[in-house]
Amino acid sequence: MIDMDRIPNHIGIVMDGNGRWAAKRALPRLAGHNAGMKALKEIVKRASVLGVKHLTVYAFSTENWKRSKDEISGIFKLLVLYIDKELEELNRNNVRVNILGEYKELPAKALLRLEKSRVTTASNEGMQFNIALNYGGRAELVKAARAIAADLLEGSLGIDEISEQHVADRLYTSGIPDPELIIRTSGEKRLSNFLLWQSAYSEFVFSEVFWPDFSPDELEKSIEEYQGRARRFGGR
Ligand code: FPP
Repeated sequence: MIDMDRIPNHIGIVMDGNGRWAAKRALPRLAGHNAGMKALKEIVKRASVLGVKHLTVYAFSTENWKRSKDEISGIFKLLVLYIDKELEELNRNNVRVNILGEYKELPAKALLRLEKSRVTTASNEGMQFNIALNYGGRAELVKAARAIAADLLEGSLGIDEISEQHVADRLYTSGIPDPELIIRTSGEKRLSNFLLWQSAYSEFVFSEVFWPDFSPDELEKSIEEYQGRARRFGGR
């Protein structure tokens, strides 16, 4: 049974396996992403009901640009469709949408919807739904390093003053607590450049199911697995 008093505040998810889900059914890869989108919708709902404060999903990495043009444009078309269909309900459920990554570089139609989602839900106080888009953990750290270097050059910061907090404050996740739990689906056991800094003390749960099959019950199972582990932060 899930312990409602120990729900992680922040859960990160690497949604992997859409392509393999489709291949297993002899369907095009985009059918997998479409099914993945449906799974995501249900996970957002359940996470919000469970009282998760932050849900962060890895939707498109800086490395995903290497995929075929058709797959990339298909993924962003799905994103547009999803927002057009779901924004009202997200808003009704008091979910606040936030984007992590260099999302301004995304296709114009997707960008427009993302801005609209952010603005529409900006004052909501329920779960914050962080969508990592054109996100890379290393790029995020480089960006933070540049911002700190700029402060040094400007003279507003001294070298000895640079602290972990200075770095954290310059990440896309500034102000967001670190994830206690990171889930990756489809049996792969890698972080793949997701939340590198933020995952320093995260528990990792790997689910064997492909992302489109990751149901709200699977989410609860992952939370139970997390709750079964003792977290010591390097102490005893
Ligand atoms: C991983 O499966 C999934 C992605 C790279 C994209 C995730 C996309 C969605 C859940 C739908 C679109 C959502 C948004 C918000 C844009 P994979 O293609 O890497 O699967 P594979 O490893 O089996 O090939």
